[in-house]
Amino acid sequence: MAIFPKSSDIILKVLGAVIGLGAVATIGAYTYYSYPTVIDTGYQPEQPVPYSHKLHAGQLGLNCFYCHYTVYRGAYAAIPGTEICMGCHQKVKDKSPRLELVRQSYETGEAIPWKKIHVLPDYVYFNHRAHVTAGVSCVSCHGRIDQMVEVHQEKPLNMAMCLDCHRNPAPNVRPAELVTQLDWVPDRDPSEIGREIIAQKHLNPPTNCSGCHR
Ligand code: HEC
Ligand code: HEC
Ligand code: HEC
Ligand code: HEC
Ligand code: HEC
Repeated sequence: MAIFPKSSDIILKVLGAVIGLGAVATIGAYTYYSYPTVIDTGYQPEQPVPYSHKLHAGQLGLNCFYCHYTVYRGAYAAIPGTEICMGCHQKVKDKSPRLELVRQSYETGEAIPWKKIHVLPDYVYFNHRAHVTAGVSCVSCHGRIDQMVEVHQEKPLNMAMCLDCHRNPAPNVRPAELVTQLDWVPDRDPSEIGREIIAQKHLNPPTNCSGCHR
């Protein structure tokens, strides 16, 4: 997966960098900034059930919150439990072999072993709630999930990407009630809308090292 070794020496590097703050910190950021990292972009593991976002979130129009209901409350965006699927699939396609594992999971209570796609290293602090309530849409970080049959990682989600937005968030901030509307097209300059919301909510994304490396 990552081209960097996920070992304690990275943690030491981060800790060292955080302690060394000041001038070193800014230099660190700029050096990293120009570093060509496209890490897990494109990662698309095969999932145990052929569940399609394009069908459910796109064609059927189910809101992301219907299934990922914890994004507003917590750091983690929960993958829905089987009961949510069975709310429909007890009736819809209830004999489909493609749903065999879902029915089994419902009977046994054993979770479907979905494979996680987007993964940050442990030494990075990330929180969905902070972004979603600020008005940063899922589309800014995950792309058009509602058009994907199988989810793949579309954006690098590396430090350069985080900092890019934290330094200039305005183009990516919208009214919070529209964050799951991935095809939203603003009727005027998105940066202008963003700037108004940023001023109103006093948003201030961290650009200092300890904001993300705690
Ligand atoms: C009917 C339930 C359902 C809805 C609605 C839904 N999802 Fe999902 N989502 C899932 C399931 C199940 C998985 C795990 C399997 C997979 O990756 O396809 C998942 C996985 C994901 C992942 C990948 C998570 C990882 O492992 O890194 C992202 C990102 C995601 N969903 C975003 C969205 C967005 C954005 C929307 C709204 C446009 C949405 N989902 C709507 C059920 C749903
Ligand atoms: C709001 C209702 C609803 C929910 C909730 C829902 N689905 Fe579906 N699902 C559908 C409908 C409708 C279809 C399309 C049926 C058709 O093609 O006629 C479908 C189709 C499918 C198919 C394809 C079945 C086939 O035989 O082609 C799979 C697999 C599937 N869903 C998995 C899931 C999983 C896994 C979840 C939970 C994460 C889930 N669904 C949640 C309504 C739902
Ligand atoms: C600012 C960027 C950003 C936004 C906005 C965002 N995500 Fe994520 N998402 C991530 C990152 C980064 C991860 C990996 C987190 C980790 O490994 O700790 C992730 C992981 C996920 C996962 C896998 C479970 C988890 O929490 O690790 C799901 C599901 C998901 N996102 C859904 C959504 C949905 C739905 C929305 C919109 C309501 C959304 N995300 C908005 C960056 C974002
Ligand atoms: C598209 C824009 C965007 C991207 C990409 C983004 N962020 Fe943010 N982030 C924001 C905004 C806007 C806020 C301000 C929230 C506030 O002030 O309430 C924020 C706030 C934060 C906070 C402070 C909130 C808290 O809970 O303390 C952390 C930490 C953070 N982001 C980490 C990350 C990390 C790590 C990444 C990359 C994986 C990332 N962000 C990517 C826009 C973004
Ligand atoms: C907005 C969030 C954010 C801020 C602020 C931030 N980082 Fe990071 N940093 C990340 C993310 C995300 C990664 C993981 C990158 C990846 O997986 O590609 C990372 C990775 C790293 C790494 C390990 C990668 C490597 O090259 O070995 C170091 C070292 C690091 N950061 C140092 C710093 C320093 C020093 C600062 C302050 C100048 C800083 N970070 C500020 C998000 C941030």
